Amino acid sequence: MPTKTRTRTTPTPMLIPSLIPPPKPDYQIKADPRARVYVGDCREVIPRLEECEAGEVDLIFADPPFNLSRAYDEWHDAMPEDEYLDFTYAWLDLSVDALRPGGALWVNIPDTWAAEIVMHLKGGRGSARCMTMINWCIWHYRFGQNTTGRFISSKVHALFFVKGGAAHTWNGRDVVEMSDRRSIYFDKRTENKRDGMPAGMRLPMDVWYGKFWGRVQGNNMERRDYHDNQLPELYLERVIRVSSNAGDLVMDPFLGSGTTGVIAHALGRRFIGIEFSKANAKSSFERIKAGPVRELGAMKGASTAIFGARGKPRHAAADR
Ligand SMILES: C[S@@+](CC[C@H](N)C(=O)[O-])C[C@H]1O[C@@H](n2cnc3c(N)ncnc32)[C@H](O)[C@@H]1O
Repeated sequence: MPTKTRTRTTPTPMLIPSLIPPPKPDYQIKADPRARVYVGDCREVIPRLEECEAGEVDLIFADPPFNLSRAYDEWHDAMPEDEYLDFTYAWLDLSVDALRPGGALWVNIPDTWAAEIVMHLKGGRGSARCMTMINWCIWHYRFGQNTTGRFISSKVHALFFVKGGAAHTWNGRDVVEMSDRRSIYFDKRTENKRDGMPAGMRLPMDVWYGKFWGRVQGNNMERRDYHDNQLPELYLERVIRVSSNAGDLVMDPFLGSGTTGVIAHALGRRFIGIEFSKANAKSSFERIKAGPVRELGAMKGASTAIFGARGKPRHAAADR
């Protein structure tokens, strides 16, 4: 087994923000200048953006390159492990600094790097950048690659951290789904409960799956050409609804096909996207302008039960 030496140093930011004027966005919606896309390495762009320097970003969603030799157009996705971790810690630190007190950071990451990211964000005692973990969610999909010598990978981690110093945004009621008690068991206790959630509803569990939650592959109507890492719209809808309010500033440092921008813009959030590939940035901007493919809110209140109904409805509410 090769020896792995891991350095935990963060490289010095490549630019000194106060000496360099903020960059002009490469793409900006004319009718809504609040939606902006920048081309470049996020480690260079983030420190130059005024809102980031001022620590005003409300929500950051990051789906970084996984260092698994993926074809990301221009980005070389096969760094030595130490280099990848330095890269990771650098953009994580810049992201934390860009957040407002109480701001939220969500990171979409596979098994290979989840532990390192969690450890870094937790920071240890006394760390200036110590974040609080709210949820370690799993995005579960069923279209994994078949294997013979190990179990099939069918998940990515959705890590949800918040910055201290103020209350974080939590709009749980905006993302409720039907409880199993209603959809499977027709249990009338769920119709009369007083737990703060609407009758028959509950917050989603921390493993995310269901209709329209699969990997965006094949003839999926959301699919964009040349992107094999596109996230489903529903995933971003859940994150953006629960962790931000209309008018808030959402940022994605690894924009890819633009899913975060599409949903943030459609939900009335201000948006900053950063993307290394010029072609991806252009295409994501077109997508942001075009808007989501699926109707927003269409799955709100739907059931994600994995079993069919057991027994028969015993009261009217069960028919809903
Ligand atoms: C996993 S994909 C993001 C997919 C995106 N969430 C979506 O739904 O389409 C990662 C993207 O980050 C871009 N990227 C890689 N390194 C970057 C960097 N240092 N700065 C900005 N973008 C980068 C890649 O070109 C790629 O498009």
